[in-house]
Amino acid sequence: MSDITSLILDDHERFRRAFAELDDLDGPEELARAWEPLADLLDLHAAAEEAVFYPELIQRGADAEDETLDAVGDHNDIRDAVAETRRHPAGSAAWHAAVRQARTANSEHMAEEEDDALADFRKHADPGLREELGRKFLAFKAEHEGGKGIDTGDVDPERYVEEQERKAGKNPADDGSLGIGGLKGAR
Ligand SMILES: [Fe+2]
Ligand SMILES: [Fe+2]
Repeated sequence: MSDITSLILDDHERFRRAFAELDDLDGPEELARAWEPLADLLDLHAAAEEAVFYPELIQRGADAEDETLDAVGDHNDIRDAVAETRRHPAGSAAWHAAVRQARTANSEHMAEEEDDALADFRKHADPGLREELGRKFLAFKAEHEGGKGIDTGDVDPERYVEEQERKAGKNPADDGSLGIGGLKGAR
């Protein structure tokens, strides 16, 4: 079974546990050893969702535009906090503050993604597609293991949505969706 919505939940559970495990650690080396793979997975997970999941949600979800704008904006907040941790020595006050920021941004995002985007997708995508995307999600993660080749820079949410809609052959003017002009300030 490789239903993409279930694979995403598996990563989310991994995040919750890995952040909880950090609470029990102290020394800078221990903290760095635990944090680095978690930081890499946070970046990889967001990139994999943007490469595999959201382009399909855009085509099917009932509220896909708003869900995708929110998600990409949240991914940017998580990416920014992860990048900030890399500017400070593990265990320093600034490092702890950035890890805290990543954790809070990620927890809020996971709740929203699970309740909105994943729920919407389950209602509108058939099981075969969910399995196929699950396989692609795993392949993307394997190919970029440890964050290899991942762009961790911010993604402009509106441009992302516009690009995915264009790739899907959706003309915003035709289908009543907001289009890029209307999206501005809609969040
Ligand atoms: Fe996620
Ligand atoms: Fe996400």
